[in-house]
Amino acid sequence: MFRSIAAPRHALSVIALICIGLPVLAQDSENGQSIYMGYCALCHGPQATGSGITTLPGIDAPDLTVIAQANEGVFPAGEVAQQIDGRDPIAAHGADRAMPVFGGYFEGDKGVALRMPSGQSMMVSKPMADLVAWLESVQK
Ligand code: HEC
Repeated sequence: MFRSIAAPRHALSVIALICIGLPVLAQDSENGQSIYMGYCALCHGPQATGSGITTLPGIDAPDLTVIAQANEGVFPAGEVAQQIDGRDPIAAHGADRAMPVFGGYFEGDKGVALRMPSGQSMMVSKPMADLVAWLESVQK
């Protein structure tokens, strides 16, 4: 299910995430990758390392493979989903956000639980969960 770059630690945490989701839907990081290529690669680059092809003034899309590193080695899946969703201005880091709001693209059955930094879980749609799973799989 996951590409070989996913360390065992990641695989375990994804299994833990799947276990708290009811009904259980497996996260499909390959589907997540194709969503990423369609919606995100333009700015964040095909490898998610931040070297996208957009040269819009004021848009400096960050490297998404160092999110776990910047968070003491833990990939904050729920927080990342909130940042992608973008409809909560506090979670999305302020109103001066340059990144588009994607929440509307990832509506649908909220059937998958992602863990939040607080330890609570957050229900997200399957496409969002797949996208977050792929991002987790590319962490350095
Ligand atoms: C128009 C360019 C653009 C597109 C398209 C885009 N982003 Fe972003 N993204 C940004 C910018 C710029 C930031 C930095 C914060 C800000 O200014 O909004 C960012 C920030 C982020 C962050 C927070 C990173 C951190 O280190 O805190 C995540 C996660 C993220 N983007 C994921 C995605 C995903 C997933 C997609 C596709 C669904 C996507 N982005 C599409 C420009 C973009």
